[in-house]
Amino acid sequence: MNILFHGQGLDSDTWLAAIRTQLPNADARCWSDGLPNDWQADYALLWHPPAELFQQQTRLRALFNLGAGVDALLSLPGRPVEVPLIRLRNAGMAHWMCQYVLYGVLHFGRDFDRYRAQQQQHQWRPLQSRSRESLRLGLLGLGALGAEVACSLQRQGYALQGWSRSPKSIEGVDSYTGQQCLDSFLSRCDIVVNLLPATRDTHNLLDAERLAALPSGAVVINPGRGSTLDLDALLDALDSGHLRGAMLDVFAEEPLPPEHPLWSRPEVIITPHVAAPTLVTEALEQIAADIEALEQGRFVPRVDVEKEY
Ligand code: GLV
Repeated sequence: MNILFHGQGLDSDTWLAAIRTQLPNADARCWSDGLPNDWQADYALLWHPPAELFQQQTRLRALFNLGAGVDALLSLPGRPVEVPLIRLRNAGMAHWMCQYVLYGVLHFGRDFDRYRAQQQQHQWRPLQSRSRESLRLGLLGLGALGAEVACSLQRQGYALQGWSRSPKSIEGVDSYTGQQCLDSFLSRCDIVVNLLPATRDTHNLLDAERLAALPSGAVVINPGRGSTLDLDALLDALDSGHLRGAMLDVFAEEPLPPEHPLWSRPEVIITPHVAAPTLVTEALEQIAADIEALEQGRFVPRVDVEKEY
């Protein structure tokens, strides 16, 4: 079995070594090796590959996306549409995502943002923090990662509601489905956490109107995809004082340009797309198990290209 790896920004040596450990019978090669023309891969493990890869590799049986979000691969010209696309479903990322979200919830929920501001003024002023039960948390997106985040926040004692495209049932989570419920969902979120994938339907979903639907003093945490949040609308909502703050890990343009006004907003935390990094060993455990299942003709969850996730 031949396996091809291409991972923009990933360390090829580490990945190749790990592929050879997990799949010892495979001939694993890196796309940048200058592959002989007659070397054709059965499976490709990809993160932001070049479009030429698909011109040269014509016998692929499945594509594995080395992340949870498949937007980059789906929009790549020349992707063989008949080849199944499989993404990382959790592969250890949920743990990191839960921590990222919890950090944001604690930062704002325990008033650490306000204490930072007071520190700048050398002010010693204890505030009356809200109880966990009275802080209304909302999760946009209840997929593999969203569901884990919901459970971890529940374990911390927070009251939760979730919104998703298709109905989801998670014990203890008040669930909303569909665009018609979105504004009423948002109106009940003191902190909204956005884990939606980047799709046609989610593009700028959180626009001026949607942000206005949040209660006054709400917070936006976005570790999902940048294209789902209109940054101009966010800045306006921060300027007007309607929003208290934001924690942002992803942006429509990455890196966020150095001159972008968000960098210097004290009420905004910016991180460079690190909320839930892909973990080599855990990713390869999922991929090796999926390949084995495919080889044996068993079911493996695939990306629904129509839904775009
Ligand atoms: C990261 O952005 C991922 O899609 O896993």
